[in-house]
Amino acid sequence: MSSVKIITTEDGSHSLYHQDLKETYHSFHGALQESRHVFIDKGLRYWRTKEGLPDFLKIFEVGLGTGLNALLAAQFAMDSGISIEYTGVEPFPLEEATIDQLNYVAQLESGAPGDDRLKNTFKRIHSVKWEEPVEIYPYFELTKHQIKLEDYNLNSSENFDIIFFDAFAPNKQAELWELSIIQKCYKLLKKGGVFVTYSAKGQLKRDLKSAGFEVETLPGPPGKKEMVRGVK
Ligand SMILES: C[S@@+](CC[C@H](N)C(=O)[O-])C[C@H]1O[C@@H](n2cnc3c(N)ncnc32)[C@H](O)[C@@H]1O
Repeated sequence: MSSVKIITTEDGSHSLYHQDLKETYHSFHGALQESRHVFIDKGLRYWRTKEGLPDFLKIFEVGLGTGLNALLAAQFAMDSGISIEYTGVEPFPLEEATIDQLNYVAQLESGAPGDDRLKNTFKRIHSVKWEEPVEIYPYFELTKHQIKLEDYNLNSSENFDIIFFDAFAPNKQAELWELSIIQKCYKLLKKGGVFVTYSAKGQLKRDLKSAGFEVETLPGPPGKKEMVRGVK
């Protein structure tokens, strides 16, 4: 996709600006801060604590994009010695030249020079084949689907523990925030499963409730007042 431009957000980490949509991939207050707060802390860490620290879990991401959330989940798996099966849908994969310039690994590795695990993980997240499960490293298996969420087939035997819902904002991509999509997310989750997103729109909260989720409004990452979590 050539309509994206690399930008540096306020915490020093990169994001992308989508020139047609006039929208960034992350909060300009800090891409890394946002991903850590919304998806890792309020999603992954929360689910794991709530469930009694299981050592295996399955994550589904809507909009794999730069791979930042996948990289942070892989880092979480490495640090805590747990296994994660990660599935991501992304209809518009980024060009290699764009991915190669992203500074996430450098931002994350500042305290651990010489450790190439994150670098290799990030590379493999983007270079491995689509449409089949691939072991990125022993604790992290990735399946990438080049498809829109709307077209993703629900498979009743494949339920997830956590959904990282990281679509473009509702005012830019309304079709991904419709009730039918929220209901699809509900079906994708196991009982007790967690849906997290950076948005805190009133309509989203109403739709999550009507789909059957228990909904919480939580403090957002720096620069954003609120975010939303739903538990099935
Ligand atoms: C806000 S960006 C976030 C990307 C990614 N999570 C990241 O951290 O870089 C939204 C992503 O959703 C993808 N997307 C666009 N339409 C989609 C659709 N219909 N289904 C799933 N993903 C979609 C975009 O290409 C983009 O990568």
